[in-house]
Amino acid sequence: MALKPGVEVKPATGKLGVLLPGMGAVATTFVAGCLAVRRGLAKPIGSLTEMGTIRLGKRTENRVPTIRDYIELPTLDNMCFGGWDIFEDNAYVAASRAGVLEKDLLRELESELSQIKPMPAVFDNRYVKKLDGTHRKTGANKMELAEQLMDDMKRFKEENGCDRLVAVWCGSTEIYHRPTEVHSTLEKFEEGLRNNDDGIAPSQIYAYAAVKLGVPYANGAPNLSVDFPAIQELAKKTGTPIAGKDFKTGQTLMKTILAPGFKARLLGLEGWYSTNILGNRDGEVLDDPESFKTKEVSKLGVLEHILQPDKYPDLYKDFHHVVRINYYPPRGDNKEGWDNIDIKGWLGYPMQIKIDFLCRDSILAAPIVLDLALFMDFAKRCDMHGIQEWLSFYFKSPMTPEGLYPEHDLFIQLMKLKNTLRYTKGDDLITHLGAEYYD
Ligand SMILES: NC(=O)c1ccc[n+]([C@@H]2O[C@H](COP(=O)([O-])OP(=O)(O)OC[C@H]3O[C@@H](n4cnc5c(N)ncnc54)[C@H](O)[C@@H]3O)[C@@H](O)[C@H]2O)c1
Repeated sequence: MALKPGVEVKPATGKLGVLLPGMGAVATTFVAGCLAVRRGLAKPIGSLTEMGTIRLGKRTENRVPTIRDYIELPTLDNMCFGGWDIFEDNAYVAASRAGVLEKDLLRELESELSQIKPMPAVFDNRYVKKLDGTHRKTGANKMELAEQLMDDMKRFKEENGCDRLVAVWCGSTEIYHRPTEVHSTLEKFEEGLRNNDDGIAPSQIYAYAAVKLGVPYANGAPNLSVDFPAIQELAKKTGTPIAGKDFKTGQTLMKTILAPGFKARLLGLEGWYSTNILGNRDGEVLDDPESFKTKEVSKLGVLEHILQPDKYPDLYKDFHHVVRINYYPPRGDNKEGWDNIDIKGWLGYPMQIKIDFLCRDSILAAPIVLDLALFMDFAKRCDMHGIQEWLSFYFKSPMTPEGLYPEHDLFIQLMKLKNTLRYTKGDDLITHLGAEYYD
C-alpha cells in the first residue's frame, strides 16, 4: 500500500472526472445524487467524505474537523461524471428505468443527466449471461479493446477539462472464475490480451486500461477485476491505487456490524441464515447461478474472518451460514433481506435474532461510490499505490496482499481508515488508550 507518514498531499486542483464502467442503478443513483446535493435539493446522507468528522489529538482539545476539510477533498462542484454501458440510454433514461429515485427529483435534474451518455462498452455475454446489449466496442483482440478504453479516458479528460480521473466499477457481476496462468504476470497478461485469452474478463480489460494510464480503480462488484498478480504489478509500475471488492451495503453491512458485537461479548453462533428478494437488473443478473456463485463467495467469507472459529472452537466451530438471493421483480431496487441468527449464551442456552431489513440497494451503494472516488483520488495525490487496504470499510471482500487475512469488522475498518488519514497527514494516531487523561 506504500503508506508514508506526513507526506505532502498534492492539492486537489481543477476538476476530478469520475468514470463508471456500468451505468445502471447504482451508478445513476450516485450521479443523480451528486447533482441533487450540488443544487441543494438533498443531503449526502451516508457519505463519510461529505458528512464525516475526524478527531485529532486529545478528547479535551476539541479538534474535530470534517474529513473533507482535513484532507482537502474536491467539492462536488469540481467533479464530473462519465462511463460506459452496453445500453445506449443516457443517465436520465437509465436512472428513470432503474426506478430508484423519485420521478420529480429526476425531472429537476433531467437536463444535466441527459447530457451524460455512456460510451460503448467492452462486453462479453459469456461473462454476464443474462444481459445482451448492442452498445459495444469491436476490435481485433482484447488489447485493441483496452486501447480504445484508454482513448475514451483521455478524450473524456480533455473534453471535460479534468485535472485527474478515477474509475469505480459499477457494472454487472460476472460469472465466477479463478485466476489462471495468464493472470500471473504482467507480461503474460499483456500477451493474453493480444491473443484474446478466454480467461480475461471484460472487467479486467477496463481495470488494465485504467491502471495502465495511472487512473485509480475501485471494484464495486465481486468480480476478479484487480485482485490478481498481473494487475498489481502494473499498479506498482504506474503508481496507481487499486481497491475492491464488492460494495458492502445491505445484509453484509449488518453482518459486519452485528458479528463483532457477538464476538466481543463471547456469544456463540449456531447458524446464520440469510435470504433476499430483489427485483432490479442486478437481481436478474444474479439469477444466473454462475454470477450468483461470484456473489456468494464474496458474502460467505465475512463471518469466518470476524468470528475466527479456529481460535474460539466452543463458540464458532461449524456454524451454518447460508446466503440466498431470489430474483423477484415486484420489489425492484427495494430489496428485502431476512436474517435468522441462532446464537447461544451462558451454559449454551439458545437464543434467536430475526432481522427484516427493507433496504434500498442503490441508496446504500451510492455514497460508497462517492467516498471511494474521493478517497482513491486522495490516495493517488499522496502517492499511495497498489492495494488500498484502508478502504476495506467499503467492501464485502476487502483486498489484502497474498497471505494476509482481511479485516471485516466495520469498526476496526473505520479506525483503520481514520488512522490512515491521520498517519498520512503526520498527526498522532488515536489508540483509545486514554492514559494521558489520568497523569
Ligand atoms: N446495490 C448494491 O447494494 C450493491 C452492493 C454490492 C455490489 N453491487 C454490485 O454493483 C454492480 C452494479 O449494481 P446495479 O444495481 O447498479 O446493477 P445494474 O444491473 O442496474 O447496473 C449494472 C450495469 O452494468 C452494465 N454492464 C454490464 N456489463 C458491462 C460491461 N462489461 N461494460 C459496461 N457496462 C456493463 C449493465 O448493462 C448495467 O446497466 C453489480 O455488480 C452489483 O452486484 C451492488
